Amino acid sequence: MTTANNDIVMIENALQGLLPPDQSSERLVVEAMKYSLEAGGKRVRPRLVLEFCRLCGGTDEKALPFACAVEMIHTYSLIHDDLPCMDDDDLRRGRPSNHKKFGEAFALLAGDALLTMAFEVINSDEAASLLGDRACRLASKALASYAGAHGMIGGQVIDLQNENTAAPIEALREMDAKKTGCLIKAACELGCIAAGADEEKIKAAREYGESVGLAFQIQDDILDKISSDEELGKPVGSDEENKKSTYVSLLGVEKCVALVDELTEKATASLAAFDGDSQGLAELARSLAKRKN
Ligand code: IPE
Ligand code: IPE
Ligand code: MG
Ligand code: MG
Ligand code: MG
Repeated sequence: MTTANNDIVMIENALQGLLPPDQSSERLVVEAMKYSLEAGGKRVRPRLVLEFCRLCGGTDEKALPFACAVEMIHTYSLIHDDLPCMDDDDLRRGRPSNHKKFGEAFALLAGDALLTMAFEVINSDEAASLLGDRACRLASKALASYAGAHGMIGGQVIDLQNENTAAPIEALREMDAKKTGCLIKAACELGCIAAGADEEKIKAAREYGESVGLAFQIQDDILDKISSDEELGKPVGSDEENKKSTYVSLLGVEKCVALVDELTEKATASLAAFDGDSQGLAELARSLAKRKN
């Protein structure tokens, strides 16, 4: 098995272990949380946590609580992003979207519960004894800020405001940096925090995350245009249908492909700040630029 596949198995096992039992009276919401969390996905963000932690000399055991927390927040963001009041998409990770399966109210609650659970995991006694109080506090603070009103949520706000307009490139850059870049940056930073890395390394990790994050959303917009529902596991043409303003609608696919490559090279250059073997992260960035789903 490749390192990527090994990592995905490790992440999925850790996520399984953290989910609450579904025997309780709340079982419907737990079922809805599990449905989306266990539906697969590329697990890009938790893999970034693992890779940065390794690069800074930390163990996988230390990285896993933070990796799971980031994936929980990502999964919640997808559930809410698909709701009829947002992008109104019926397919996600190759399955009916959460609200299609459980209804809007349970999809909303499952998202809320995944968001809060992420912070429960970071602040758990297990995480504190593994990582120390300081690392957990720093991770909690960083993740809250990257996921919040001036981070991922802020980006979703700009996304909605830009519907039915032709937004300028600066607005699109801010939108993508926030709605997608922030959580990817959080993953890179949390990996460093788990390993106890210094501020200089955290800064370089942020730079990598910024470039990878922007490239990732531009690639997502390209795939929305050129892929198929089967390959992507979510509905293509969603952006056009919702009259979204994206890099692709502004610049066209060809220019966007070149931009993704440029940003990917910029990301790999940021890795020079690390003494360790950063090959895994360089390869991860390149594989994301070539991804088909
Ligand atoms: C989709 O993210 C949403 C964006 C931020 C573009 P991913 O492409 O990482 O989705 P999964 O986790 O693999 O399903
Ligand atoms: C979503 O961007 C970013 C999130 C914060 C979820 P998109 O709306 O383009 O993501 P997909 O294409 O639905 O996965
Ligand atoms: Mg959206
Ligand atoms: Mg969407
Ligand atoms: Mg998209």
